[in-house]
Amino acid sequence: STERTLILLKPDAVQRSLRGEILRRIEAKGYGIVALAQRTATAEELSSHYAEHEGKPFYQPLVDYMGSAPLVAIVAEGEKVIEGFRSLAGATNPTSAAPGTIRGDLGREWDLPVIQNLVHGSDSPESAAREIAIWFPEVG
Ligand code: CMP
Repeated sequence: STERTLILLKPDAVQRSLRGEILRRIEAKGYGIVALAQRTATAEELSSHYAEHEGKPFYQPLVDYMGSAPLVAIVAEGEKVIEGFRSLAGATNPTSAAPGTIRGDLGREWDLPVIQNLVHGSDSPESAAREIAIWFPEVG
């Protein structure tokens, strides 16, 4: 059945002016955009969003990166959109992400304590519901 996912165009995507290129891929795939907002994430949003990573060595660099500049939060909709967007996004590490994916085509590594990889997509229906409530409490 139709489902929703939470997508973030991370600060590196915004700074590199890749919003249009990434949105184009989401829309060209056939997914709908239910909600979209650009803003600088708050510490509260990031600590909720990344609660599962608390305590990991890259947690603080991750939160610093994600809060450093504006990001674009999106709710997208479609049949199997959760799995479908993760397939579009490619593997976490942009060096090894397959060409044809967002991260594989547009990303690379830098000498930084956190991997910058342009986009986030929810990994399960439970994560999607939790994350949509964080970024778009009014959408639910
Ligand atoms: P994402 O999978 O969207 O959410 C967690 C983020 O943490 C991940 O993208 C990367 O940006 C970062 N990350 C995950 N694993 C590592 C790692 N081993 N080293 C540095 N950064 C990481």
